[in-house]
Amino acid sequence: MCDQSDAPPIPDDVLTLARAARHVAVFSGAGISAESGVPTFREVQTGLWERFSAQDLATPEAFESDPALVHTWYRWRAALIQQVSPNPGHQALAQWQRQLGGAGGRLSIATQNVDDLHERAGAEVLAHLHGSITAHRCAECDAPAELAAPQYDGAAAPAEPVDPPLCEVCEEGLIRPGVVWFGEPLPMEAFDAAADAMRAADLILVVGTSGLVQPAASLPLLGMERGTPLIEINPEPTELSDAMHHRLRGPAGKLLPVLVQAVTGEALHAMDGSDGTDDSVERRAR
Ligand code: APR
Repeated sequence: MCDQSDAPPIPDDVLTLARAARHVAVFSGAGISAESGVPTFREVQTGLWERFSAQDLATPEAFESDPALVHTWYRWRAALIQQVSPNPGHQALAQWQRQLGGAGGRLSIATQNVDDLHERAGAEVLAHLHGSITAHRCAECDAPAELAAPQYDGAAAPAEPVDPPLCEVCEEGLIRPGVVWFGEPLPMEAFDAAADAMRAADLILVVGTSGLVQPAASLPLLGMERGTPLIEINPEPTELSDAMHHRLRGPAGKLLPVLVQAVTGEALHAMDGSDGTDDSVERRAR
């Protein structure tokens, strides 16, 4: 169970919509992982990266000009993600997904996040629109590559950048993270699956995203063509706020458990791991 005592109240008309929904589509961004301790893309960085914004590092040009800096940044972020746990926001969505699924409905998650915190909370993710930080491939020949788990301490930035390994297949290219950088196309299959879910949904939740990054940010707006209610959960106004029917201002880790408890009638069961392991017992490393 999570402490919901300081959660802002959910308006009645939002509760009515959520209770009536049979197919909920969730569009999530970095904000849903913020309460787990994963910094969003707009936060000021420190250490090795203090001169760079996350956006500066998430480009093919940055990797080309300084592969070690970009490689080390992603490996450190991967270590940090491995060290943290899903928060009540992730857990609430997983619980609602199970409940709706059991009742013949559906909750589809399309995320821009490259972490696996939705999955570790026990949810199934329909679309990772920007790839995965644990996947790697050759920057030249595209051959997939397996890297050992990063050994960094996610709490402190590493002292030195480390070169990325060379591809063992073509022996020419450097290994890069399997994420979508600015200027790169999104995986078509994931984008199409997310678009289908947004069009089929009878309620769309937009959680923890600035809505600044296209084409992903256009996805929830597909629901507008059918008049589907759109609800934003974010402590701050965003690029998408004006298009929303309801704006819930607060952290996802507080608001989602309250919403989901009111809809499902069940208190939140904290889980960390798709096998349903109780988070209070151990944190799962992947
Ligand atoms: N709960 C909900 N939302 C939050 C929380 C929270 N606890 N904390 C912060 N936010 C919100 C911020 O107000 C902001 O609107 O999360 C949003 C984070 O915005 P971004 O950092 O821009 O993240 P995102 O929208 O996911 O960025 C999209 O940009 O760099 C790329 O590929 C990267 O997937 C990322 C994409």
